[in-house]
Amino acid sequence: TIPISVRISEFKQKKEKFKLITFQNIESELNEKELLSWHKLIRVLTHEINNSISPITSLASSLEKLFVKSEKNISVQDVDEKIIKKTSEGLQLITKRGEGLINFVNNYKSIASIKQMDFEKIKVAELLYNMELLMRNKLTESNIVLKIEIQPIDLEINADKKYIEQVFINLIKNSIEAISDSKGIIKLNAYKTTNKKVIIEIQDSGKGIDPSIMDQIFIPFFSTKEKGSGIGLSLAQQIMQLHGGSITAQTLLNTGTKIKLNF
Ligand SMILES: Nc1ncnc2c1ncn2[C@@H]1O[C@H](COP(=O)(O)OP(=O)(O)OP(=O)(O)O)[C@@H](O)[C@H]1O
Ligand SMILES: [Mg+2]
Repeated sequence: TIPISVRISEFKQKKEKFKLITFQNIESELNEKELLSWHKLIRVLTHEINNSISPITSLASSLEKLFVKSEKNISVQDVDEKIIKKTSEGLQLITKRGEGLINFVNNYKSIASIKQMDFEKIKVAELLYNMELLMRNKLTESNIVLKIEIQPIDLEINADKKYIEQVFINLIKNSIEAISDSKGIIKLNAYKTTNKKVIIEIQDSGKGIDPSIMDQIFIPFFSTKEKGSGIGLSLAQQIMQLHGGSITAQTLLNTGTKIKLNF
């Protein structure tokens, strides 16, 4: 298969109507985008690994110096309270950094190891109300009202329940994290398009996304949060693609964000 973009334009000439249909092979554009994503991904990976490894190496090296005097190992008598304290603190820090890196690698694995989808018919109402139940504590804690609208109410999708729930958890989490004032709203809106496709939108009243980073939010490990791992949206995108669907984002700075899931 080759990816093509199709454009249809209508025009009139000498009172006759014409339809101009253009097909364009966009494979090279896609490859270029993919390459760019790879470069960004590698930048994030190396940044994260360096951030953990550099302090580990420099700490280990300064700890080592505590035990060496004029190029010889110190003897037991030279070990005092101060050396023990410094060593213990240093080892704790090294452990922490190492654990951070292991966490990071495990997160990476969760992106790379999505398994076979297990499709079943799912009632959208059941799915969304379950999500509300699951997130209720977090939502009330943050003073956020969740509104659910489903039209028609018996709307169904063909999806892998576990993975789709994962998508919603990630999206709702993002919305909660984007809302800082006390009167936040998150809307879950499900409907059918004229060509019978199901759309589920999640809209928040959060701080929005800066237009300059809009093209990066789906890249694995891209995050603007101090403690974010940048996994949520890229995982959601992969899962939607495996459902034969897609995910898009619209945002207005300081007004909110709408994430659209197309099934
Ligand atoms: N609803 C939203 N409102 C504002 N910004 C958002 C929203 N959703 C995503 N973003 C932006 O997109 C970035 C990537 O989101 P993603 O969920 O992939 O990672 P994360 O939330 O930073 O970390 P993680 O999900 O792994 O904890 C976020 O850091 C944030 O800048
Ligand atoms: Mg997230």
